[in-house]
Amino acid sequence: MNKRFSKVFVGTNHKMYKTNKQTLDYLRALEELTADIPRSQLELFVLPPYVALADACRQVDQSLITIGAQNMHWEEQGQFTGEISPIMLQDVGVSLVMIGHAERRQIFGETDEMVNRRVLASLRHGFQTLVCVGETADDKRYGTSHERLAQQIKIALHNVTQEAWKQIWVAYEPVWAIGDHGEEADPVYVNQMHAHIRETLAHSFGYNQDVPVLYGGSVNLTNASELNIQPEVDGLFIGRAAWDVDNFNKIIRSILA
Ligand code: PGA
Repeated sequence: MNKRFSKVFVGTNHKMYKTNKQTLDYLRALEELTADIPRSQLELFVLPPYVALADACRQVDQSLITIGAQNMHWEEQGQFTGEISPIMLQDVGVSLVMIGHAERRQIFGETDEMVNRRVLASLRHGFQTLVCVGETADDKRYGTSHERLAQQIKIALHNVTQEAWKQIWVAYEPVWAIGDHGEEADPVYVNQMHAHIRETLAHSFGYNQDVPVLYGGSVNLTNASELNIQPEVDGLFIGRAAWDVDNFNKIIRSILA
């Protein structure tokens, strides 16, 4: 069991992979497979594509599986073609919003300032907010990883009010470790980077104790428990290895074992 928290945080981002029906089947199976696990030990969350959110929220008991969105615009409405607003997500019953995933930053050009606007809007609208940060392969090569993470954290969380901190979760996801060409990260390295994230939170905001820091990037059944056992790791955020629901269930159980 984890150290700072009495429960472990485990979630998956479905990216652009599952249709509405596939999402609902997946969630039904996940609910059944994990029914015996007390939620005092497990905070389980799934981030389906936008079009599956309404049905997912209707179907799922969110005290068992929290449903989240993969992104969100900062304005409540406006001339922002293709965007989804906080009130739309509230309306369908979403509890969690992820902001700043590496693919949003890398492919869609999201800046730290945009991430900050989204984070503040998410907090204002009462969502649990999962903020993703991570250094690139170049940062790692040039030795600028600590600076990159500090910058991302300081800007993303700029102007977060005291009472909103309990809504923040952080995911550390090094860009070089994510996705099909991702490299598995050394658990000791991951632990050091989590410690650095906590130090940055403490130095910049005087706050870090209650912020869960999850690790993501090429997590799989083989490496999950070693990553999760690191003292600074409060849980895991998983892509590919969790899209098969049986494999996800096995990973969850390997962590809780
Ligand atoms: P991966 O994705 O587990 O497939 O590397 C992680 C992520 O992008 O959140």
